[in-house]
Amino acid sequence: MTLNAMKTLERDLRLSRRELESIVKSFHQEMKKGLTGSSGSLKMIPTYVDRPTGSEKGRYLALDLGGTNFRILSLTLKGRGIPSDKRVMKFALRKRDISTTGKRLFKFLAGSIKKFIKEKKIDLSGSIDLGFTFSFPVKTTGPASGTLIVWTKGFSASGVEGRDVVALLERAIADEKIDNISVVALANDTVGTLVARSYDDKDCDVGVIIGTGTNACYVEDLRNIRKMKNLRRQPGTMIINIEWGNFNRLKATRYDRQLDGESINPGAQILEKMVSGMYLGELCRLIAVDLISEKILFGGRACGNFNKNMAFSGEFVSQVLADRSRGLSGIISLLRRLGVKDPGTEDGKTIRKICSLLAVRAARISAAAIFAVITRIDPDIKKRHIVAIDGSVYEKLPGFAENIKSAVSELSGVRTGKIRISLTKDGSGYGAAIIAAVSSAEGDTK
Ligand code: GLC
Repeated sequence: MTLNAMKTLERDLRLSRRELESIVKSFHQEMKKGLTGSSGSLKMIPTYVDRPTGSEKGRYLALDLGGTNFRILSLTLKGRGIPSDKRVMKFALRKRDISTTGKRLFKFLAGSIKKFIKEKKIDLSGSIDLGFTFSFPVKTTGPASGTLIVWTKGFSASGVEGRDVVALLERAIADEKIDNISVVALANDTVGTLVARSYDDKDCDVGVIIGTGTNACYVEDLRNIRKMKNLRRQPGTMIINIEWGNFNRLKATRYDRQLDGESINPGAQILEKMVSGMYLGELCRLIAVDLISEKILFGGRACGNFNKNMAFSGEFVSQVLADRSRGLSGIISLLRRLGVKDPGTEDGKTIRKICSLLAVRAARISAAAIFAVITRIDPDIKKRHIVAIDGSVYEKLPGFAENIKSAVSELSGVRTGKIRISLTKDGSGYGAAIIAAVSSAEGDTK
C-alpha cells in the first residue's frame, strides 16, 4: 500500500467534529430556506400527514415502491401493538421495470396486486383502503395525491415526472379490472417509518431511511411552514419530508465529482451519492480504478469487473467490512470472483481501508444530518427524541449503526442520553397502512 496515496485519501474522506458542526449549521440554513419556499437544496415537502393517535384500527392494504424490491402487504391494525394477520409479497425490480415507460411500470404494480390478492386470498367483498408508499420526491397536493418532482435512485420510467402518481396507480388498477380497492393515502418511506414507530411511541419525531437511497422526515409546527400560507397561523404539527439526499453543502472528493458526472442525475442528490447503498460500492470501485492506474493496487493490472460501472455493489462493501479473518480470506475470494488475478493480502487491506473510510464518512454525514434535524425541532435537546431508522445500509453495513451513534454523541455531548436512534424494521409499508387508517377516518368524519 503506497502510504502517500492512502494518506491523501484518508485526509479527503475524514470528517472532523468541526466539519460535522459546520454541516449541521448549513443544514439548518437549508431547512429554513426550504420551509419558506426560497430555493435551496432541501425541498422540505409538507406531507399533509401528522403522527397517529395509536388507536387506528382495521384491515388495510399497503404498497411499498422505492427500493430494490416492490412489496405488497395486507394487515389488520388493532390500536397500538403489532398488527395481526400480516401477509406480505415481495417482487424484485429489474432494471427494465424501472427504466421502461411509466405505463408499463404501473401495469407491473397493478399486475402484482392481482397476483397478491389471488395467492394470499384477500377478501375484497367489502371494499378495502390502500396506502401507497412511493419513496421519491413528490409534491404532495393532499393526503392521497401528489406529483413526482423528479426520479431518484436510478429510476427513470418515462412520463411519470410531473404526473399524479396516485392517479396513475388508480388507472392501472382499473385497467387490471380489480374492484373495491381505494387508494386513500400517499406516503414517503421515511414518513411511513416515523408513523409506524410513533403508533406505539409518542417520543418518536424523526424518521430516517439509509438504504438504496437516503432521506428523513420530522414533525414540524404548522406555523413554521411559512410556504403554506393558509396554514401559517394554525396550531398543530405536520410531518415534513426533508428529501435530505439532495443536500449539497458537503466537501466532495474528485471521486464524488466523477460519480456525480457519470450518473443519470448530475448535480442532484449529492448527499445520497456519498451515503446510500446504491453508490457506496461504486465510489469504492472508482477509487480502486484510480489506485490500479497508479499501480498501487493489483500490481497495476486492470481487471475484469473493476472496469464496469456499478459492478462493485453496496453488498460487497458489507462483505468486505464483515471479513475479520487474519488472512482476509473473505475479501480475497470476493476479489477473485470479481476477476482479479492472484489478489494479495496487501490488495485486500487496501480494499478494506477504502471501504472503511467510505463507510465511516457516510455514517458521520448521516449523524450530522440527524443531529441537525433534532436540533431544528428542539435546539437545546430538552425533550426525549426517538429517531426511527431503517434501510439496508443502517441495518447491515458492519459498524455503521455504531458509527452514527458515536458521532451523534460527539455532537450532542451531555445531552446524548435524550436521543435514541432505533431500528424500525419494515415501517415504510406498515406505516402506509396506518396513514391509510388516519385518512379513512378523516374521510368518514367529513
Ligand atoms: C431517495 C428518495 C426519497 C426516499 C429515499 C429513501 O432519496 O428521493 O424520497 O425517501 O430515497 O428511500
